Amino acid sequence: MDSALIHFPPMGVYETLFKFQDATGKYMGTEGTHPWAQGFPLTTPVPGGPDLPTSISFTHAHLKYPQATGGIELLEAIRDYYNHFYSSKITTDNVAIFAGGRPGIYATLAFLKPEYRVLIEETEYTPYWDALELLGRDYTIIQSNPENRFRPTLEDYRAHAGHTFVVKSNPCNPTGVTWRGEQLKSMVEFCQEDGRAGLFDEAYEFFQTGEIESAMRYVGDIDQTNVFVVSAATKGLQAPGLRVGWVVASKSNIELFRNFSSIAMGGVARPSQICAAGLISLDRVDHARTGIQNFYGSQRERYGAALESLGFELFTGDGGFYHWGRLPGGLTADEFNERLFKHEAAILPGTLCDIFRRGANSPMANFVRFSFGPLNAGSFEGDVEILRAALA
Ligand SMILES: Cc1ncc(COP(=O)(O)O)c(C=O)c1O
Repeated sequence: MDSALIHFPPMGVYETLFKFQDATGKYMGTEGTHPWAQGFPLTTPVPGGPDLPTSISFTHAHLKYPQATGGIELLEAIRDYYNHFYSSKITTDNVAIFAGGRPGIYATLAFLKPEYRVLIEETEYTPYWDALELLGRDYTIIQSNPENRFRPTLEDYRAHAGHTFVVKSNPCNPTGVTWRGEQLKSMVEFCQEDGRAGLFDEAYEFFQTGEIESAMRYVGDIDQTNVFVVSAATKGLQAPGLRVGWVVASKSNIELFRNFSSIAMGGVARPSQICAAGLISLDRVDHARTGIQNFYGSQRERYGAALESLGFELFTGDGGFYHWGRLPGGLTADEFNERLFKHEAAILPGTLCDIFRRGANSPMANFVRFSFGPLNAGSFEGDVEILRAALA
């Protein structure tokens, strides 16, 4: 029977997961596999980082419907977090809770007024493309490829007049390029100009070299803006399974998300919210920020050195938990994966981060996103051996 629904495929990462499963009979990420294609962090404590909860307690009252606005303990924890680390002045009315980062991003794009044209970089987080296509959004692509070393500037954005809405992961998935300091400040100011607006996706906020930055440091009175700062418990707080994310924005924009929650979401699981509130509480989160920054910073360094010594041309910035680079010897990422599957390993082919979706003709066809997010300190030597064998 013909489906009554419009058809659409899963986001690109799943393509690699399915190919991996066909080739190995295993689900990537399970014991013994090398899930370098995947974007999840360790869900066990990192060396030097804080403990992670393995149980939560809740009462009968928590089995009631959650508030569409989000639970007060999580709203307050998020408010305190940004006001403490970035000297912002937000209230709990500036925060909307979602079941992860993606639903917050999707909702923002879904409710964006049609006169706004999305500005998005050529090399970006895979499901942005799916969301823009599914929602039928107009978008303009900002050059981000080997020619500019995946480092566009604000001038590239400025070239586009009219009502524009920036969508940007910062640190960028997959490149790790991170806008910080004056550059980030000028981008936030750009998004506050007449007719301009923007979404800063800060999923990898803790994974930065140097002082940890957020657009929240530069936003000023957020109620006077159309700036949306999105984050989640997924990466830095090491809890992708909680499915808790949030959007920080003006009160009037947050009210719309809350209306949406009352119509279509029914709030987010209370036990998850309680757990996330504990993870981001001020008496814990400083430790989490430094623990994550230090551990993943050292992983970025040693995997970077290893990949370069194997002949990869790396373009990785100083954030995130991916390496982004070109394979040696003209090898394509798909060919490389075929070789890696024999070792129960896989990378994410660069073509899946190409917002032009040019497939095999993409300048990203020889690029890979190598994720060290799920890797603990002990797998390094074995990982390098597999990479070496697959390149031989
Ligand atoms: C750039 C970016 N934004 C947001 C997310 C949020 O993920 P989730 O919806 O799992 O919280 C991810 C996870 O891969 C990401 O890489």
